[in-house]
Amino acid sequence: LIDHLLRRRVILTLGKGGVGRTSVASAISLLAARRGLRTLLMETDPRRPVADSYGHRPGLEPVALEQPHLWSLFLGGKESLEDYLRMAVPGPLLRKVFASSLYQRFVNAAPALRELTMMGKIYHEIERRPKTKLPWDLIVVDAPASGQALGMLRMPFVAHRLFGSGLVASEAAEVAGFFRNPTKCAIILVATSELLAISEALEIHDELQKLHLATSAVFFNRMSNGMFDASDIDRMIAAISRSSRLKHLEQIAEIARADLRRRIKERRALAMVQRRISAPLAIAHEQLDCSRRKLAAALATEFAAGPESLGGDC
Ligand SMILES: Nc1ncnc2c1ncn2[C@@H]1O[C@H](COP(=O)(O)OP(=O)(O)OP(=O)(O)O)[C@@H](O)[C@H]1O
Ligand SMILES: [Mg+2]
Repeated sequence: LIDHLLRRRVILTLGKGGVGRTSVASAISLLAARRGLRTLLMETDPRRPVADSYGHRPGLEPVALEQPHLWSLFLGGKESLEDYLRMAVPGPLLRKVFASSLYQRFVNAAPALRELTMMGKIYHEIERRPKTKLPWDLIVVDAPASGQALGMLRMPFVAHRLFGSGLVASEAAEVAGFFRNPTKCAIILVATSELLAISEALEIHDELQKLHLATSAVFFNRMSNGMFDASDIDRMIAAISRSSRLKHLEQIAEIARADLRRRIKERRALAMVQRRISAPLAIAHEQLDCSRRKLAAALATEFAAGPESLGGDC
């Protein structure tokens, strides 16, 4: 699965807030960089969590992270729009435009325009990068949470319909066509086994289908490591009944039971998604006590390990 995904030019991670979109995007971009692909991670989160974990705070220009072949930039709506205007409007005039309160009010009131230029920025970086700069092999976009991400993905299609013909319409059609092309763009849904995370992933999938955008994979994050099975619990209970000095085992047995209940819940969640989405599923296990960089490294190693590890024991 991961080899297949890394052959695309753009990968986007979508999902409910807090499920691990950033962690999965960060791990995939790290894995791509480890394999020697010139990789750009675009962060839409103003906190820029990944760049921040490397001690950087990029703007719209890519900065090299302390990892060969890996760069990062901030994909902000307002910033992307200004970047676009910078290309289109002469310098001195532009400064006046940006400084005017009319422009500020206009930008704040026009989320659609910001979203359209964000999509345009991704497309331009991968398909129309100036010849003077080295091209990217892969762009990974850590998209905003569900609703906002869908708004962003929808914009080129809306703009194409709205403008009918002319420059904006043909630009929008090209951008839309790129994201609809499954050989170029992969959309990954990230979820945990929590019901809300699953239902949002299913909703996103339905909305993507309406736009004729395919879900390329579903990543189940924070899955149990499955340290215990039912026979471990039976053995602990048998040991407790044989010796009163093994009282502490009761607590461990309770932890093991909770783990088992969690894995049953996870299996149900997986089955529910499999019934509705035909895309491949991948598993990312819960990692204990690690920094953002270590987490990305651990998940990248897990994804690289291939189908055995991706299948987990669920
Ligand atoms: N597999 C994992 N194991 C352990 N911790 C994880 C795992 N995945 C994510 N986390 C932790 O969960 C938290 C949320 O993860 P992350 O920031 O990747 O989610 P997100 O979907 O990008 O959230 P947001 O909506 O805030 O952008 C972080 O603290 C992260 O370290
Ligand atoms: Mg995030």
